[in-house]
Amino acid sequence: MGVLENTVVVVTGAAGGLGRAMSGGLIAAGARVVGVDLPGGSGLDAVARELGSNFVPFAANLRNEDDCAAVVQHALAKAGGLHVLVNNAGVGMQNINPRFATNPTRFWELTPAQWREVIETNSTSQFLMARACTPHLIKQGWGRLINITTSYATMQLAGFSPYGPSKAAAEANTVIMSRDLAGSGVSANVLIPGGPANTAMVSDDLMWPDRSKLVQPPQMIAPVVWLASKESDGVNGMRFIAQMWNGSLSTAAAASIAGAPAGF
Ligand SMILES: NC(=O)c1ccc[n+]([C@@H]2O[C@H](COP(=O)([O-])OP(=O)(O)OC[C@H]3O[C@@H](n4cnc5c(N)ncnc54)[C@H](O)[C@@H]3O)[C@@H](O)[C@H]2O)c1
Repeated sequence: MGVLENTVVVVTGAAGGLGRAMSGGLIAAGARVVGVDLPGGSGLDAVARELGSNFVPFAANLRNEDDCAAVVQHALAKAGGLHVLVNNAGVGMQNINPRFATNPTRFWELTPAQWREVIETNSTSQFLMARACTPHLIKQGWGRLINITTSYATMQLAGFSPYGPSKAAAEANTVIMSRDLAGSGVSANVLIPGGPANTAMVSDDLMWPDRSKLVQPPQMIAPVVWLASKESDGVNGMRFIAQMWNGSLSTAAAASIAGAPAGF
């Protein structure tokens, strides 16, 4: 029996590189996953075919609070519960400029619409999904919010506005969530890859010609499974770096090496 038997996990951005890998790993550990991604050709159907009946796809635009409420209703009605939210959906700098790493766009060159799209997708959608899920989690006395942010260096890198600030806001909000949730049985923690990862978001091939040097998405699986499980009871307000997770150690030892308090 897997450590996530009888656990329903909502993974946002489930059709993307990290979301797909985490969904597969969570299902292999016994979870049922409600995989959420944008409607219309996001690739959710292909992930559903690959991962089988324990992957319950749901198309939603998480910038919209009604869609976030619908995700919760879908999880409760079609997947039989809701225990863990992996707030993973996001957009990167490649939406603004495909050569964002080698020929960066400076902040004064951004349009207000570009700023708003990235902030709303990466920060506001995490808040909206957490807001939609948390009353149910508090009522059942157990739950997890796992927010995917990014490395501190990326949050402050020249040419990385608005991605950097969008993730810094999500990081700070995770700390506040963890404090607001103290004593409720529900935790809020951050998980990051720990470097540029081999997904569609890291698209500038002049900067990253050798994809094997990037963090590979399956590296996210062991820490996300542990964070979603009862083994991480009592862990709150922390951030874990997947790249530093040593799978040959016990989960407690791996977590202690890969973890540190979230925030600044
Ligand atoms: N790839 C990296 O190097 C890296 C590093 C640090 C953090 N991250 C973070 O990891 C997360 C996953 O990124 P990835 O690398 O897998 O990228 P990705 O582009 O492969 O996946 C992101 C997914 O989010 C979905 N999405 C975007 N906006 C959405 C919305 N409004 N509603 C629903 N779904 C939406 C996209 O359709 C896509 O499937 C992101 O939050 C990203 O910022 C990535």
